[in-house]
Amino acid sequence: MIRYTRVGSLVRTARKSAGYTQASLAKKARIGLSALQGVEQGKGRASSLGAILKALGLELRGRQLPAGPVGAALLQVRERRKLSRRRLAKALGVSVDALVSTERGGGLVSVLESYGDAVAARFYLAPPGEKRKFSVNQGNSTGNDLWETPTELGQQLSTAVGGFDLDPCAATADRRRASVKAKVLLTADDDGLAARWHGRVFVNPPYSRGIAEWIRKCWHESERGCVVIGLVPARPDTGWWHDYVANKADIYMLKGRLKFGASRTNAPFPSSVVCWNGTPELVQKLTSVLADAWHIPKTVQARTKHSKQGFSKRSGPTRARGQQVYPTNQGRIKNPMKSRNHSAPREG
Ligand SMILES: C[S@@+](CC[C@H](N)C(=O)[O-])C[C@H]1O[C@@H](n2cnc3c(N)ncnc32)[C@H](O)[C@@H]1O
Repeated sequence: MIRYTRVGSLVRTARKSAGYTQASLAKKARIGLSALQGVEQGKGRASSLGAILKALGLELRGRQLPAGPVGAALLQVRERRKLSRRRLAKALGVSVDALVSTERGGGLVSVLESYGDAVAARFYLAPPGEKRKFSVNQGNSTGNDLWETPTELGQQLSTAVGGFDLDPCAATADRRRASVKAKVLLTADDDGLAARWHGRVFVNPPYSRGIAEWIRKCWHESERGCVVIGLVPARPDTGWWHDYVANKADIYMLKGRLKFGASRTNAPFPSSVVCWNGTPELVQKLTSVLADAWHIPKTVQARTKHSKQGFSKRSGPTRARGQQVYPTNQGRIKNPMKSRNHSAPREG
């Protein structure tokens, strides 16, 4: 099956709306047909992408990027976030040289894509000179894909579940450096989103636009039998939350804001731990481990949805349909967010 990536899909859509076939556009851009097909699939060289865009009279930009050539804009964002090339290259599973090429406007389309994902560039195509459509927004969770799980929280979740079998979106394939020590670590290079998951899975997905796909996958794999624990931004206003979290999982709304990875400051958004397909024992353990969190049990959500009487003996009074007062947990284990043990963070 042919898979179109975001930059690839943008090119493909632009080609079609300009009325070109792949062959006619390749001819106009003076590149081979296979080079054009590669770009539409997110492969091939950035120089081919450049030739295609020139032929279409378009340029690549990012909603979250400063104006100017995309490579230089990515470099600016990376430096602004104090993200070293070495660290980003490791997170993306590419060489430092590959990042340098991309920042100079060359290299591979696949590296450009994953670099863009990592800094949530949100690419789009526009005619050169057209005014910027979007303002830069770095104040929420979509602005970065490298929010690494606080080590202590990762350990607590791991203990509750009895050890994770899989992290399908790991920042590194090196278990010693991974913040959550699952038996199998899949990085962007392995494409954990496309892989089949197994066992007890920990997921702290990229938080940019693709998050809906990851959350859908969490739910889907839990339907296949995996136990999936996700550390996700608390966004009950989104479609993905309504479709794949609400009524489908145990939800723990974390109190306070996490310090991710090596960051010294708290995240600008609230977080939640979501458990799909948890056994009652696991849910009990999580409730104990995440003692400060507001637990919204899946069973209560389901009961609330179908409740006719407006009162549940186990969970207390229901309000209007779909609304209920949920019990707050009493803490036994200290709040991981208050720990002094977090190593000095740098925003990822
Ligand atoms: C928010 S970070 C979480 C990293 C790590 N799991 C943790 O909890 O600290 C998301 C990670 O997903 C990785 N990623 C992005 N797309 C991916 C894909 N298709 N397959 C696997 N990993 C991916 C990014 O490189 C990034 O390191």
